[in-house]
Amino acid sequence: MTTVLKPLFGKTAFVTGGARSIGAAIVRRLASDGASVAFTYVSSQNRAEELANEIEASGGRAVAIRADSADAEAVKRAVAEAVNVFGAVDILVNNAGIANLKPYDQFAIEEFDRMIAVNFRAVFAAIQAAGPQMKEGGRIINIGSNAADNNPLTGASLYVSTKAAVAGLTRALARDLAPKGITINNVQPGPTDTDMNPADGPYAPIVSGSIALGRYGKASEIASMVAYLASPEAGFITGASINVDGGVNI
Ligand SMILES: NC(=O)c1ccc[n+]([C@@H]2O[C@H](COP(=O)([O-])OP(=O)(O)OC[C@H]3O[C@@H](n4cnc5c(N)ncnc54)[C@H](OP(=O)(O)O)[C@@H]3O)[C@@H](O)[C@H]2O)c1
Repeated sequence: MTTVLKPLFGKTAFVTGGARSIGAAIVRRLASDGASVAFTYVSSQNRAEELANEIEASGGRAVAIRADSADAEAVKRAVAEAVNVFGAVDILVNNAGIANLKPYDQFAIEEFDRMIAVNFRAVFAAIQAAGPQMKEGGRIINIGSNAADNNPLTGASLYVSTKAAVAGLTRALARDLAPKGITINNVQPGPTDTDMNPADGPYAPIVSGSIALGRYGKASEIASMVAYLASPEAGFITGASINVDGGVNI
């Protein structure tokens, strides 16, 4: 009889914003593929602890760390804590994000700064913290948005800008990271049924018509792509932005 090892057996992952929605689906999937997973939360402490307990109860390893992505130093400390607990971070997933939509002339500059801080600066900070300790085969996966390519909503100027910045960062950093054998990619979800964008929420009537498959995505379907990119099978993919959007961008 042969024993089939889980694809991420022996690997350690760090996921930002992992307590709920897409982040929680990523945490669950990476854990079920065999990775030890550290993940951050900022407000969802109970859900974070429940998720870590659920994974530990099913034989995996998980730790929840409070870290506000608006605070770059907190993000760096959280990565360091994960390295301390598990010995390394082999897979970094930058998932935490906020979507503050309003007419461009109504944004306070503090709101601009916060959008940039959570959706973009924290991504760079986490990569700065995790990248140097990654070994050959390391994986960085950002969660951008298909809105960076195709945005039907008014009021999304800052959100789309941050996600386009993530796509640009991904492309450029692929060159810097390649010599160490580390890949970096950007998963761009389309409309996905979460707290941010419920399938019966206010954006649904606007975005639904553009989805070729005629339905919202599930968080687990975004996690499937993350798991693939994290796996050894995806070793020849880097610098890519990959839409998982039910065919919006076709
Ligand atoms: N849903 C969609 O249709 C869609 C489409 C394209 C892209 N995306 C992207 O996918 C990612 C996840 O979106 P989602 O739909 O799962 O969003 P969500 O339901 O609003 O969940 C957001 C997650 O991010 C975390 N987060 C928010 N602000 C944070 C902060 N300052 N520090 C640390 N964590 C923070 C939250 O943690 P707490 O619960 O602890 O606050 C939560 O885990 C985001 O980057 C989003 O832009 C989503």
